[in-house]
Amino acid sequence: MTEGRAPALWALIPAAGVGRRMGAERPKQFLRLGSRSVLEHTLGIFLEHPAIRGVVLVVGSGVDSDAMELPSAGGRLFLVTGGAERADSVRNGLEFLAGRAGPEDWVLVHDAARPCLPPEDLDRLISLLQHDPVGGLLAAPSSDTLKLAGTGERVERTLDRSSVWRALTPQMFRLQALREALDAAAASGVAVTDEASAMEFAGAHPRIVEGSPMNIKITQPEDLEVAEIYLRRQQRLRNAG
Ligand code: CTP
Ligand code: MG
Repeated sequence: MTEGRAPALWALIPAAGVGRRMGAERPKQFLRLGSRSVLEHTLGIFLEHPAIRGVVLVVGSGVDSDAMELPSAGGRLFLVTGGAERADSVRNGLEFLAGRAGPEDWVLVHDAARPCLPPEDLDRLISLLQHDPVGGLLAAPSSDTLKLAGTGERVERTLDRSSVWRALTPQMFRLQALREALDAAAASGVAVTDEASAMEFAGAHPRIVEGSPMNIKITQPEDLEVAEIYLRRQQRLRNAG
């Protein structure tokens, strides 16, 4: 808040996973959806957004960046090497950003494996959170009735569906606060699978912004077909082969 300029917006795309559950010949972010890779679809959403100053792409250490067919980005795309877990990859990306962004700048962390993020959801997240003290995340309500399991695979009770959300990405937090939260979680040995969990661990209450259930994380082989349908519906699947 001490800076003399409005906080900038940055995107950070963790793409250093191996895609174990997908079981393909290469990590799922490099599989094709139409004429482009999953990763190119995802990057496009952020590189084409006029309010986003730069995109930090976190890739695995063995990845040949020349073979990645990255979109031309006019110097707005930065490559960083990832770590063992998603949170480690995000921390590496944040460390890089700390060298060129302000501590109060916003960082939008978005899984490479979510190419179907509707651009209007990104716009809504930014506009609802840009003056928020904490930040928040896109999330989707559950359409199923939810059961809390007890012991022996038996239902303990039914959860109130209206108070349970599925965490999606992007998750939007301020650079320094998010760095500190992820560092603190790591130092305490707490495994966090999203940025909001780290912020919660630090005592914050991230804001929930309802997003489209089309914003799936490609995880299993059948998710690729679903992603193609959603991209086509958004008219974002060009020259589909
Ligand atoms: N990711 C990362 N660094 C890791 C692990 C995951 O940057 N060490 C990224 C993935 O590339 C993906 C996102 O975090 O874009 C979400 O992770 P997930 O869906 O779990 O991808 P994978 O870890 O690759 O898949 P799996 O868990 O099935 O191996
Ligand atoms: Mg994983």
